[in-house]
Amino acid sequence: MTNESTARAAPGAAPRYRFYDLKPPPGDMHAEVHAGLTGPTKRLPPKYFYDATGSKLFEAITRLPEYYLTRTELGLFDRYQDELAAALGDGVCLVEYGSGSSRKIRKVLERARPLAYVPVDISGDHLAAQARTLVADFPWLQVYPTCADYSQPFALPEPVARLTKVGFFPGSSIGNFEPAAAEAFLRNARRTLGARSRLLIGVDRKKDVRVLEAAYDDAEGVTAAFNLNMLSHLNAALGCDFDLSGFRHEANYNHALGCVQMHLRSLRQQRVRIGDAVVTFAAGERIHTENSFKYHPEEFTALAGRAGFDVKDWWTDERGWFATFLLEASVQ
Ligand code: TRP
Repeated sequence: MTNESTARAAPGAAPRYRFYDLKPPPGDMHAEVHAGLTGPTKRLPPKYFYDATGSKLFEAITRLPEYYLTRTELGLFDRYQDELAAALGDGVCLVEYGSGSSRKIRKVLERARPLAYVPVDISGDHLAAQARTLVADFPWLQVYPTCADYSQPFALPEPVARLTKVGFFPGSSIGNFEPAAAEAFLRNARRTLGARSRLLIGVDRKKDVRVLEAAYDDAEGVTAAFNLNMLSHLNAALGCDFDLSGFRHEANYNHALGCVQMHLRSLRQQRVRIGDAVVTFAAGERIHTENSFKYHPEEFTALAGRAGFDVKDWWTDERGWFATFLLEASVQ
């Protein structure tokens, strides 16, 4: 528990708002970056996309004409709102993995009217700020933000112990895990959410390569700025001296793996200081920054099945570009 105050509630009743800090151990940024840039192939952890500028740029990505994912998923929530509300059921606790912008959760809260909402994120500040506005805007909702590393099983807040849990993982964020890690994430979610739990999850589908690559390399250059901003973040946080004009954003669909891969390509031979160390880049050498895996519905169904979830229902748009799955913990 942090020193955040709790909202007023009837004596004996659970407070309507409480912040739970499970104190996820902070990673060693310098060690992670140094290790990533000195291995056989250079890579940087995607979590470092999100400094203040990165979060703003990502928000701008979700509104780009080429980035169909957010728009399509929101459209599915509108179009299938009655089915979604019925599928979630009454009196449930909605557990959101990662709390980004609240556009999606607001739609789901309005339609499905769960009893409680538990946003889970590794970064506490944004989590508390966002949760507090939801407490004000949804006076019937119990809100228990939980600061935790959701890639591991974690304990849910005590007030929701007896409620049926429905997980919420939109945006095809599952696609940013390698398939084996995606399976491990789902298995952990099943343990955290418990028996008879469900999981509402957004999955981006395989489609025309041109559509996929444009979504990650837009004409305005917002995605390029987002990818390159990782280097500005490292400059500011670790005192590195990346010259952003020496790197170029690239997004390519890898057919064999079924994912869009994001890289930063060094445009010339150069040396970059990482704390006390110096890393050398050859001309044309790339840093891998992110993967975004795409799934055929049957591929995702099989993956979920291996992790202990059955597909209860799923919805897609007319073009078949994006899918929202309602998974249910299988009896094991
Ligand atoms: N979950 C998002 C996706 O895979 C993340 C994302 C969107 C992203 N655009 C990006 C990550 C560009 C890195 C670079 O669609």
